[in-house]
Amino acid sequence: MRDRLEALCRDGIAAVSEAKSADALQEVEIHLLGRNGALTALLKGLGKLSAAERPAAGKLANEVKQALQQAVEEGRCSLAQAELAQDLSGVGMDPTLPGSDLPSGGVHPVMAVARELEDLFSSMGYVVWDGPEIETEAHNFDDLNIPTDHPARESHDTIWMQDHGTSGRLCLRTHTSPVQIRALQKFGAPLRVIAPGRVFRQEAQDATHEHTFHQMEGLVVDKGIGVPHMLHAMNSMLEGVFGRQLETRLRPGFFPFVEPGFELDARCPFCKEGCKVCKGSTWIELMPGGLVHPHVLLSAGLDPQVYSGFAFGLGLSRMAMLRYGIHDIRWMMSGDLRFLEQFPA
Ligand code: DAH
Repeated sequence: MRDRLEALCRDGIAAVSEAKSADALQEVEIHLLGRNGALTALLKGLGKLSAAERPAAGKLANEVKQALQQAVEEGRCSLAQAELAQDLSGVGMDPTLPGSDLPSGGVHPVMAVARELEDLFSSMGYVVWDGPEIETEAHNFDDLNIPTDHPARESHDTIWMQDHGTSGRLCLRTHTSPVQIRALQKFGAPLRVIAPGRVFRQEAQDATHEHTFHQMEGLVVDKGIGVPHMLHAMNSMLEGVFGRQLETRLRPGFFPFVEPGFELDARCPFCKEGCKVCKGSTWIELMPGGLVHPHVLLSAGLDPQVYSGFAFGLGLSRMAMLRYGIHDIRWMMSGDLRFLEQFPA
């Protein structure tokens, strides 16, 4: 009996290791351990043994059964692994290769210019500050010296919202200048700040007018600030956008929140004799600015006898258009991928 059990164990394990597929292994298993299998047949012979031989033979039969079961389980595992490897190589797949690329977005041209200017001005000690796009009438107009009946409101037509509280009427801000007031109220003086952001106007849209566009405000308030400081900041701004110094000139300009007010023009970066961009004049109007009006300083709780400052407004959308040669501002907010995909990250 003992010999037959040991032979079954040895031959059984050999048969398991020779099974090359899950089906073949199952057949071997049934043959060895099934209800009518070889082990069962041997166990039937146990009854014929003497009472003295039976316990040792029974114990051995159990051990053989366990050894065969374990061999079958291990065989099943290694067959499964081999099958998986086979499957992967069968479809020509190499699991060590990197995955396929996910499409990724780019940086919008306005944001690209804004980020560069933020870096540049941060490096000169300016704070980058933000304000709400839905603004109070006071911040957008009155505190900037543009009272209700002022003609300057004409060019700042916008969408108004009902008064929902104590802050007065609300509107979609028409410029980034209200951030001047907010920043001064929050930080006081001395202050250096730039405020990039989205602004809105009621406009008849065409290639150079859009109802939604971007500006960047600059404001410096301290003791003894004058026009030369303003010129330096404006020229740095242009150098940041165009990557080189442009020849500039100042003309008088009127904005209710600065006194005196200026328009800064730059020599056309695209031509020497006049082109479509500069409308043949070789100068392009780039940036308004001026010395902060005492009314604005007072609105922010500062004494105009002690503090002075300059402010400028940069048309970010316009700068991005000039820099990248974009001829129609309506592309900017169009969300059209054919346009956006031309500006990789
Ligand atoms: N906020 C003005 C506008 O959108 C632009 C502007 C003019 C800003 C003069 C300034 C400034 O800071 O000093 O029309």
